[in-house]
Amino acid sequence: MNLFDLQGKTAIVTGGAKGLGGAIAIGLAKAGADIAIVTSSGKNRAVYDQITAMGRKAHIIVADLSKEENLPKVVSETLSVFGKIDILVNNSGIIRRTPAADHAAQDWHDVIDLNMNSVFFLCQLVGREMLKQGSGKIINIASMLTFQGGINVPGYTASKHGVAGITKALANEWAGKGINVNAIAPGYMETDNTAALRADADRNSQIMVRIPAGRWGTPEDLQGPAVFLASKASDYMSGEVLCVDGGWMTR
Ligand SMILES: NC(=O)c1ccc[n+]([C@@H]2O[C@H](COP(=O)([O-])OP(=O)(O)OC[C@H]3O[C@@H](n4cnc5c(N)ncnc54)[C@H](OP(=O)(O)O)[C@@H]3O)[C@@H](O)[C@H]2O)c1
Repeated sequence: MNLFDLQGKTAIVTGGAKGLGGAIAIGLAKAGADIAIVTSSGKNRAVYDQITAMGRKAHIIVADLSKEENLPKVVSETLSVFGKIDILVNNSGIIRRTPAADHAAQDWHDVIDLNMNSVFFLCQLVGREMLKQGSGKIINIASMLTFQGGINVPGYTASKHGVAGITKALANEWAGKGINVNAIAPGYMETDNTAALRADADRNSQIMVRIPAGRWGTPEDLQGPAVFLASKASDYMSGEVLCVDGGWMTR
């Protein structure tokens, strides 16, 4: 028996067309899953092409998840294309960098709406389907700022603390019903989200010096942990926030 086999499983990956979500979608597909890729722009097709070239099914759902009214169609479209949902990865997220004293209300609301509110409501909508089938795996993407305060990103920090709270609250309700709810907290990873940090020589060296692994993470570093949390291998894990950070948090 291969504990990590995802053949026959259907996964929704939000923000699955690029960045960390793109790598997670490809990782799950390599393990056998078919993938519903949720994107607000619909512009990037490379992940879709890579998954279908592997012989897996993929489907692109265009939805701005920051608007609650767009969430039900993510579920209904996935069900109409694939017939069921076994795995949900809540990965879509944005960051707005300005000091707390100047943090615009709109920036706060935009970040909270996407990074936290959409995570709860999508968990709720998909969770209802998983409760009916008596099984499911939910993986929410947290952050180092689930544990720390960060600098100049108060809304982001609040949202990512919220992601851990949602993960634990739902894990407690659903662990006995066949649904595992866990989170991955990536460390400092090379994506568009961190381009500004990497371009700032001072911040870049402050960050690098604290990473025991001696390098920024790559999107591919999340593939193994995501497959693990999506598979039978993690059936007794519940409410965990798994750091994938090159050792940042233990420093
Ligand atoms: N990079 C890091 O170091 C790091 C560390 C910890 C946590 N994270 C988290 O990892 C997740 C992915 O970030 P990333 O680093 O891969 O950054 P990214 O390349 O900027 O990706 C952001 C993702 O969110 C999606 N997205 C943005 N607005 C959306 C909306 N309104 N509706 C639906 N999807 C939307 C984007 O998809 P489209 O553009 O296709 O819509 C994209 O896939 C985020 O939750 C982020 O907070 C990143």
